[in-house]
Amino acid sequence: MSVDVMTGREIPPSVQGFLDSAGVLVIGGEERGASDGGTFTTVDPATEQVLAEIPQATADDVAGAVAAAKQAHDTGVWRGLDPAKRASALFKVADAIKQHANDLAWVDTLDHGKPVKHALGEMIAASNCFRYFAGWVDKMTGDVIPSRDGRFVYSQREPVGVCAQIIPWNFPLLMATWKIAPALAFGNTTVLKPAEQTPLSALWLVRILREVGIPDGVVNLVQGVGEVTGQALIEHPDVDKIAFTGSTEVGKHIMRTAADNLAKVTLELGGKSPNLVFSDAGDVDKLARRAAFACFYNSGEVCTAGTRLVVDAAIHDELVSKVAAAADGTTVGPGWGDGVAMGPLVTGEHRERVAGYVDIATQDGAELITGGAVPDDLDTGYFFRPTVFDGVTSDMRIAQEEVFGPVLAVQRFEDEDEAVALANDVSYGLAAAVWTRDVGRAHRVASKLQAGTVWVNTYGEIDSPVSFGGFKQSGIGRELGPHAVEAYTQVKSVWLAT
Ligand code: TAP
Repeated sequence: MSVDVMTGREIPPSVQGFLDSAGVLVIGGEERGASDGGTFTTVDPATEQVLAEIPQATADDVAGAVAAAKQAHDTGVWRGLDPAKRASALFKVADAIKQHANDLAWVDTLDHGKPVKHALGEMIAASNCFRYFAGWVDKMTGDVIPSRDGRFVYSQREPVGVCAQIIPWNFPLLMATWKIAPALAFGNTTVLKPAEQTPLSALWLVRILREVGIPDGVVNLVQGVGEVTGQALIEHPDVDKIAFTGSTEVGKHIMRTAADNLAKVTLELGGKSPNLVFSDAGDVDKLARRAAFACFYNSGEVCTAGTRLVVDAAIHDELVSKVAAAADGTTVGPGWGDGVAMGPLVTGEHRERVAGYVDIATQDGAELITGGAVPDDLDTGYFFRPTVFDGVTSDMRIAQEEVFGPVLAVQRFEDEDEAVALANDVSYGLAAAVWTRDVGRAHRVASKLQAGTVWVNTYGEIDSPVSFGGFKQSGIGRELGPHAVEAYTQVKSVWLAT
């Protein structure tokens, strides 16, 4: 172990070895620096120490990566392989992620800040995602279509081509997996750009892909800031499809840019998800723990976080005081610390943004119940206390805008209609939850909620076989599940005169 005497952080040797080799792009199978030698640093948000220096890919580097992906697509080195061989490679990736899960979890903990045990769960989910999509490779069939006499008509699904895949920093390895696994399963080639805040674990994944024999150029990795590297990628005329996960603002910009080349677009964007709790939902202690978890998991840096607790007036006071107690009882600290439930925010800049929302909410008239500040005992690292605001109304910015931090806004309702109206009164529509023991109400409310995912008496569950995506301004298209076929294939109809 390399032990840092100042912080007590002990990085496993295998992880340290990886960090020492992490300063590369991967273009056409070659690991190399940026063409102009430019770099940026990635920092551990729990210690504020630099983890690695990473090449900042230029527009030329991006063009090289797209050219490599295009060549791999055009020559058919991947899409032309026997489906059994392609599936076998993806199953091996699933096994390798599981085998390296501890180290990968450490990498994402260092780079993002999350507790190691949470990161470990994400590695298992990432492994399962590759396993799920590996199963699709030899099941992508077309149709035979009834037609006029003397004609035989069929359809087949083909890969879209070169995919530009741009991901955020909140679940670094898992988001890379959600992008790469379906793209490869359906025969595409890709250029991945991770977020500049969390560039590391994607490289480990790309190395795994090469180790299992996925040909050079099929998956390329470019690193760098969105305005330079990401922009060059989304503007490139040889990109056939852009798959983006991130903020709604950047998602809109990507869609406008994609219009120039008519690149296909899927967007997984932000959320302001309502968590509706009815007074018949049962044990208030348990509901409070679950509501706190729904909002504060991963430091609130979750697109589906239950950031609006919409509560039945009959249990409002009791639930809010218990959620506040759960917030205060959350152990905040470095992700590798014993018993830590919540790590830091991803950067100092992001913490300022989150703290700014505390001021905005207060000025708008919301009541700060707890949190809203840096923990007293954590002056190094970008930590922030779980925060609860009560008395929130729909016209306040804290009810409408995505904070992407551990800040809960509580809204009160008197009846079911008001609960649904409050829940839907935002521009987002990513996820929602309803807690009730009344089965009729559960189905009635679930059908009225404007969200791509609705949970009943649970929160935050996501699994590879279940399609995922947003209503309204939370996105376009679906990832995971059978709907990923639509995202990564195009249909060809063939007419044959018999
Ligand atoms: P963004 O600021 O939107 O960044 C996402 C990615 O886009 C990053 O890789 C970023 O690069 C890149 N980017 C920025 N400007 C770009 C440009 N002009 N051209 C091309 N790429 C550009 O989001 P974030 O702050 O990383 O992540 C938080 C957001 O992601 C939240 O809104 C959250 O809800 C959303 N999110 C959604 C989901 C799903 S599945 N719906 C899942 C996770 C997160 P840099 O980092 O280098 O700027």
